[in-house]
Amino acid sequence: MKKLVFATNNQHKLDEVRALLKEAGPEIAERYEILSLDDIGCHADIPENGMTFADNALQKAEYVKVHYNLDCFADDSGLEVRALGMEPGVRSARYADDCGYSHDDTANVDKLLHNMANVKERQAQFRAVVVLLMDGDRYEFEGVCRGEIGRQREGSKGFGYDPIFYPEGHSVTFAEMSMQDKNLISHRGKAVRQLVKYLASIEEKIV
Ligand code: IMP
Repeated sequence: MKKLVFATNNQHKLDEVRALLKEAGPEIAERYEILSLDDIGCHADIPENGMTFADNALQKAEYVKVHYNLDCFADDSGLEVRALGMEPGVRSARYADDCGYSHDDTANVDKLLHNMANVKERQAQFRAVVVLLMDGDRYEFEGVCRGEIGRQREGSKGFGYDPIFYPEGHSVTFAEMSMQDKNLISHRGKAVRQLVKYLASIEEKIV
């Protein structure tokens, strides 16, 4: 089994990615063991100060490569709201830091709802970029999920902005969907499916 580090300790993201790998079939799922940062003993607060999702994903993946010399992938993701000039974007996890909260999902959602209180135009999108550093090469995969920002929280599943995000064509928020249903349409689902497809293609060449 090949060890592949997913540079995160976000249990929701780990569950989503492990489920997507499993979905690809036992041949692929049994060839890769996905390890978290905790699993490799990395408890550092890895810097993410890039200007783009791709910069930040690369920063996280490179940190693991440099300090642990393990093949690795990292995702950076966030919510882009059209009426807010595509904010919070790369600052999604830290949106309410300037209000005295640090990486606080509840405060982030409160701030976004507050900033959108009188805004009619509710279009938004989640974006995820996954960077894979493997066998000396670098690969990038991206997924976008369009939708709208609700006026109040609905649902209790998921994390982050899930309770206020209605994906296009759906009348429920991400937080009201099962993880499997969210994965089918989500930004991360789209990016990680490309990653899994790539991992499957390498195995085909090796076998
Ligand atoms: P990251 O962990 O640095 O990529 O930060 C991403 C931030 O964007 C998270 O803390 C969430 O606030 C938000 N985010 C990214 N993906 C999702 C998602 O699938 N649902 C809800 N919020 C998300």
